[in-house]
Amino acid sequence: MNAAVRAIVRVAISEGCEPYGIIDGYQGLVEGGDNIRPFAWNDVRGYLNIGGTSIGTARCKEFRERQGRLDAAYNLVERGIDSLVVIGGDGSLTGADILRDEWPGLIEELHKAGRITSEHLERHRHLTIVGLVGSIDNDMAGTDITIGAISCLHRICEAVDSIASTATSHSRAFVVEVMGRHCGWLALMAGIAIGADFLFVPERPPPKDWEDVICKTLVENRRMGKRKLIVIVAEGAIDSDLNPIKPDHIKDVLTTKAGLDTRVTTLGHIQRGGVPAAFDRATMQGVEAVRAVLHSTPNTPSPMIGINANKITSRPLMEAVKQTHQVAEAIEKKDFEQAMNLRDSEFAT
Ligand code: F6P
Repeated sequence: MNAAVRAIVRVAISEGCEPYGIIDGYQGLVEGGDNIRPFAWNDVRGYLNIGGTSIGTARCKEFRERQGRLDAAYNLVERGIDSLVVIGGDGSLTGADILRDEWPGLIEELHKAGRITSEHLERHRHLTIVGLVGSIDNDMAGTDITIGAISCLHRICEAVDSIASTATSHSRAFVVEVMGRHCGWLALMAGIAIGADFLFVPERPPPKDWEDVICKTLVENRRMGKRKLIVIVAEGAIDSDLNPIKPDHIKDVLTTKAGLDTRVTTLGHIQRGGVPAAFDRATMQGVEAVRAVLHSTPNTPSPMIGINANKITSRPLMEAVKQTHQVAEAIEKKDFEQAMNLRDSEFAT
């Protein structure tokens, strides 16, 4: 995300705008004060290769309430800020769109309460919102890839490559849990990249008799001479009754039913950190975000900047959020076919 912030700040300055950085996301926006700071060219020096977000991020309960958004609106208007570029997942981006929808009512209320002047009111009739998608899970519709996902995938592959030393030397099976609460992209792509023997993802639960199937598969692979056996499990993996499938359970199955010496490794937050991969240094998305701000009108829907077929794209933010939620709803209704179709259409468009 830092590379995107850097690009936004520097392109904004080049275009004659005055960029501000908001510390800790919506929390800083609601609290105001020094959390909303003018950012100069040099404030983002060195940002390109730092993982995570140097301006911070936080979950913010207050912003979910109208009063919190009212304070956020005040803090923006007070500083003359009329555009907000938000980097986040579907929750943060939906929050931004709600703020834009409520904006006219919020500033009227601030004016009535005497918190802002009539001049402010006139100058700030509209709030521009542009969304960038930061998520290691790659779980947003409308973009082929989200910021962070590629770096995370690399980290997983490096970790599993390291596990391979023990797995091969000792002829062991490893069950590796990777992140991905509702989306199996990381598990799937890592599984392909490292040559996993079996995968569990939320979007496609295994058959009811999966315990027999996984034992048969791994025993057969071992019989064919494979010393290293790797099972990748997304943390949101479920069975066909929507019950979670946990790594320890898979380990027990492989140990007791298949007689395999099995270990569990949960990669955890190692996956979310470290130096970002080159493709993940989201400079071009940041450039496009500023361009979108400069071209926005009150009548155009808030755009989401993504990547489709290797090109930077701009699509209606709320359509992407809606389609993302539809995938989750289809899974909840056990309509896995529909969930896959929605995911496919995301790639097809
Ligand atoms: O949503 C991204 C994600 O990385 C999930 O895959 C994971 O479950 C979660 O965040 C971890 O969040 P936290 O750091 O708050 O535990």
